[in-house]
Amino acid sequence: MDCVDFDALEEAARAKMPPASFAFCAAGADDEISVAESIAAWRALRLRPRVLRDVTAIDTSVTLLGDANPSPILVAPTGRHKLFHPEGEAATARGAAAAGVPYVMASYSNVPIENVAAERKKAPQWFQLYYWPEHKEVEALIDRLAAAGFSALVLTVDAPVSGWSPRAAREQHEPSPEIRNINMPGQPMARTAYHPDFAGRVVHPATWRELEWLVKRSPMPVLVKGVLRADDAAQCAECGARAVIVSNHGGRHLDTTVTTAAALPEIAAALAGKAEVYVDGGIRRGTDILKALALGARAVLIGRPVIWGLTVDGAAGVTAVLEHLRIELVRAMQLTGTASLAEATFDLLAPQQRV
Ligand SMILES: Cc1cc2nc3c(=O)[nH]c(=O)nc-3n(C[C@H](O)[C@H](O)[C@H](O)COP(=O)(O)O)c2cc1C
Repeated sequence: MDCVDFDALEEAARAKMPPASFAFCAAGADDEISVAESIAAWRALRLRPRVLRDVTAIDTSVTLLGDANPSPILVAPTGRHKLFHPEGEAATARGAAAAGVPYVMASYSNVPIENVAAERKKAPQWFQLYYWPEHKEVEALIDRLAAAGFSALVLTVDAPVSGWSPRAAREQHEPSPEIRNINMPGQPMARTAYHPDFAGRVVHPATWRELEWLVKRSPMPVLVKGVLRADDAAQCAECGARAVIVSNHGGRHLDTTVTTAAALPEIAAALAGKAEVYVDGGIRRGTDILKALALGARAVLIGRPVIWGLTVDGAAGVTAVLEHLRIELVRAMQLTGTASLAEATFDLLAPQQRV
């Protein structure tokens, strides 16, 4: 599989998947301004390389929630992987495990939790939770996840209602018995979130009260995904969240948000010493990862590129995408004189570009 440039990989994936699956993967809300700007924001930052450093041994290791990880790269939660590959999330989990990368499994997955857990090797698996109205069902799911060995819960908070995507609404995937939300109560067939029936319906009614409850109830550490403001991030930490993921959901629900690159520094400053900070959205290069770390992130999550790899070559494609990004990160570190992630500091970026 050719990962040399992700534009070509995306085209290869597009050629292989049904048009409705591609629309679901690529979709951004409304005019897709946030999708484009998220990518552009990382690209616009300018590096200030350090020279004459010993870069023969580069250390990309990092601890996440106290566990050692070989690199600061994670697989972002994305739903419905059977739209992209017949093995669905089992292939994604296997590919991530082979790369030693933590996999964040989505609530709206098509493979049972236990089958995904069976693919685990040394890298941890976390689970992305949407808080849905049936409280008892959420509790049962939490216990099932803990029993299956998932080691963290990621509560997504940026989509209490669904956004609207003209692109995905025009090309809806047909409901199919294969594409079920198999871990949800009733195992309903998955329909696109961009369906007029969902308009304005609060499908994920979490508030600060539910976050506090979840932190108390969960035997696993809780992270909050979808935060773009320092005041919200600080409140997450006060509620007991161990980490915050700076994210605009890949631009899929609210269009024209601040970019994650722009939101990251104030959130990293607000959470210093209180909770870990991760970021996602538009990260496509090793240099993007290095810039995110320089702006204060501890790790990054990768969404769409993983789906492109999954589509083109199943588990091996997922591994190839993740390995490609790690190699690019190492090269970016070598070329900027950054021997370890601790050296990926703010001064690596040109002042006028520090957003
Ligand atoms: C097809 C697709 C489905 C997604 N589904 C979910 C989801 O179920 N839960 C969630 O928290 N985020 C979901 N996301 C958002 C990702 O976790 C992540 O925030 C985003 O994709 C990162 O941006 P990137 O795709 O530019 O890397 C989804 C993204 C895509 C592309």
